[in-house]
Amino acid sequence: MKIEIVDSKTPKRGSLVLAVGEGRQLGPFGQQVDKACGGALAKAMAAAARFTGGKGQWLDVLVPGGGLSRVLLAGLGKTTEIKAMAYEALGADAVKRLAVSGETDLAIAAEVLKGTLLPAGEAAARAALGARLGSYRFDKYRTRLKDKDKPSLKAVNVLTAAAPAAKKLHAPLDKLAAGVELTRNLVTEPANIIYPESLAAECRKLAKLGVKVEVLGEREMKKLGMGALLGVGQGSARESKLVVMQWNGGKKGGKPVSFVGKGVCFDTGGISIKPSAGMEEMKWDMGGAGAVIGAMAAIAGRKAKANVVGVVALVENMPSGTAQRPGDIVTSMSGQTIEVLNTDAEGRLILCDAMWYTQQRFKPQAMVDLATLTGAIIIALGHEHAGLFSNNDRLAEQLAASGKVEDEQLWRLPLSDAYDEGLKSPIADMQNIAGPGFGAGSITAAQFLQRFVVDKTPWAHLDIAGTAWSKKDRPTVPKGATGFGVRLLNRLVADHYEDR
Ligand code: BES
Ligand code: MN
Ligand code: ZN
Repeated sequence: MKIEIVDSKTPKRGSLVLAVGEGRQLGPFGQQVDKACGGALAKAMAAAARFTGGKGQWLDVLVPGGGLSRVLLAGLGKTTEIKAMAYEALGADAVKRLAVSGETDLAIAAEVLKGTLLPAGEAAARAALGARLGSYRFDKYRTRLKDKDKPSLKAVNVLTAAAPAAKKLHAPLDKLAAGVELTRNLVTEPANIIYPESLAAECRKLAKLGVKVEVLGEREMKKLGMGALLGVGQGSARESKLVVMQWNGGKKGGKPVSFVGKGVCFDTGGISIKPSAGMEEMKWDMGGAGAVIGAMAAIAGRKAKANVVGVVALVENMPSGTAQRPGDIVTSMSGQTIEVLNTDAEGRLILCDAMWYTQQRFKPQAMVDLATLTGAIIIALGHEHAGLFSNNDRLAEQLAASGKVEDEQLWRLPLSDAYDEGLKSPIADMQNIAGPGFGAGSITAAQFLQRFVVDKTPWAHLDIAGTAWSKKDRPTVPKGATGFGVRLLNRLVADHYEDR
């Protein structure tokens, strides 16, 4: 499907989507189309008494005579309340309505209506972004898909009165969409296809965008003393990997902002094995790493003027004769020892070494880790917000604000010494889980990570266990792997870490 931004002109064929404001308000282009078809649109709206142009309402109008096959009227609601996101939803919903309809050509008139405060170029750029994000599918393994179920749309033209401005705004958004798609693909792939080595190979592909990619294997990690990370991977037949991705688009030598991702390519729980029901979901336990990889692709793709480092810790958590046992004590790269009471609390064990390495090597001005870390965050926040933990109010606020703008929302939870108490071990420097009855599972996981934050490095931890995968269809986020975190991190860099 090819998505293009073009000047507003009534298409000669295919379907046309027009934005309508509350009160059946058409824009100048919509009025022109209505006139050209003899007032058929106004008539159809009047006849369908319940179609008022309210948010989410749709009305299909068949257009008599040659040319256009139909016009779809899309309600955007009260024009004074329409925001940029509404145009993303418009693009996404439009494409979804016609995706497998047999229609091949779609034009979306992304008009800004009277009363809405939004540049015309922005509306069109967002509609094009929405069309791409909303049309995401993963059909790779469907070898017997019937023709009638295959996508039919070939060309989507976003019509606008401000094509040059829209194209300029759309270029970086299209790179962002590519990053989100990459993350969705990687997270969707099963664990027999995406495992540490093959995921590292996917990271290497970012070199073509100008990202410097290094892959460390178990030998190198052993030398560095990453006993916590290596302990998690030791039960797997697959070799653990640590991938370091650098995008140096900022000032030479300027301290980078850093992202660290949990990449457990499959989490069986290890010897503290998970129940079999639902275990297949643990293929997406590399969602944090997936988000970091997609964000690096977006940031490099749009050539951000920033220095950004992405580090992903890639392992497979398996039970076997060589697996780590409950009670084992490992020594992390920081030198701190950890009593592994539960081998299913493995994410923190790989992140602690990846975070330590990132800080030692890059002295980042900020560090954000992303991880599908705890089931408890789903109990606390469901699937609407990811958990945010931070030692730095400014970074926390930047992240929360970025999440709002991009609709990848965060909710901050506390950290404190009282929670940290739960990690005291009778035999080592800490244990990897708090004792029974302590509660606050997501917070104690974050406290564990905080023990590996050097001095005052501004650090934030995002627990994305509830948001990396979705069972609910949303306009720009279809069911399945969401790509959560890519838009957020890209926005964080754009708004706070880029040279102007
Ligand atoms: N990967 C899981 C967390 C998870 C659960 C992600 C559900 C997505 C959906 C993590 O490694 C884990 O197993 N956490 C344990 C921690 C516990 C042993 C302290 C959990 O949440 O039960
Ligand atoms: Mn686990
Ligand atoms: Zn896990």
